[in-house]
Amino acid sequence: MTAQPANLTGLDLREEIQRLRGERNAIILAHYYQSPDIQDLADYIGDSLELSKKAAATDADVILFCGVKFMAETAKILAPGKTVILPDLNAGCSLEDACPPEKFAQFRKAHPDHIALTYINCSTEVKALSDVIVTSSSAETILAQIPETQKIIFGPDRHLGGYLSRKFNREMLLWPGVCIVHEAFSETELLKLKAQHPGAPVAAHPECPPHIVDHADYVGSTSGILNYAKAFEGDTLIVATEPHIIHQMQLAIPDKTFIGAPGADGQCSCNICPYMALNTLEKMYLALRDLSPRIEIEEGLRLQAKKSLDKMLEMASGTVGQGDLGSR
Ligand code: 13P
Ligand code: SF4
Repeated sequence: MTAQPANLTGLDLREEIQRLRGERNAIILAHYYQSPDIQDLADYIGDSLELSKKAAATDADVILFCGVKFMAETAKILAPGKTVILPDLNAGCSLEDACPPEKFAQFRKAHPDHIALTYINCSTEVKALSDVIVTSSSAETILAQIPETQKIIFGPDRHLGGYLSRKFNREMLLWPGVCIVHEAFSETELLKLKAQHPGAPVAAHPECPPHIVDHADYVGSTSGILNYAKAFEGDTLIVATEPHIIHQMQLAIPDKTFIGAPGADGQCSCNICPYMALNTLEKMYLALRDLSPRIEIEEGLRLQAKKSLDKMLEMASGTVGQGDLGSR
């Protein structure tokens, strides 16, 4: 059932979401890229690894996942007994779209001596075809545990893969996917911004292309960037990732200035994730009211995908909360 937002006129959505959260024994998980109104309603806000762990550990009956579909699917894989709902099922990801499972399976077949180290931003089918999943906060810890002689396919994010490859001085076969949001930052505009704010450090997500990462003082996952923002000395930080994360920075450190890195037009609008933006308070309310749209995964596929996620959780233990790929 899909109700029209117009039918909701007059409802206090925040109040209704709070009421339904209690009635449903639901937990609201939100990624840092969600809009501030969603973040402010969440029980827990985190990066991909932290949200996966939270989903696996919750006592709630229902998980309202405010993020994108691969994140909600990860929650369902790890917590199959829970009802997992996503405000908008169309909340996808350009990295997932860039890696169709059939093509990935063929690529794996063509390289039988390689293991597949795969970024969590992919479909459940691709997870099922992978050996170990990584997030940006766990990738380094995990890569460091893989013997030097082991050949690796890294997908679907060629920028994260390239960053790791350069940092570890380790060749990997890179799948050619990109995040359309991080791809949109402009080096020219970033250099102009740096010139306007001399001395302001740049914190960047490793989904950014090398021409942005090369100007960064810190490279890390969303929670790593947030931790850096809490600790840096100075009064202004340039943030090269999806700008909604700045909400948590402003709440935690209100006396400092955080500036989103610009896109090609010199503004930030092109750096807002269009998939995350599909989730709204209206859709959160409807999802809790109707317990729909629900994430359902066929059991055989879920169990196969869980293997590579379990491997990640095992190999990443100790990295949670640090969100850290480290300073460059
Ligand atoms: P992290 O939150 O793990 O840094 O990942 C960012 C991301 O790709 C969200 O889409
Ligand atoms: Fe995917 Fe990029 Fe959006 Fe993250 S920010 S969900 S990687 S499109």
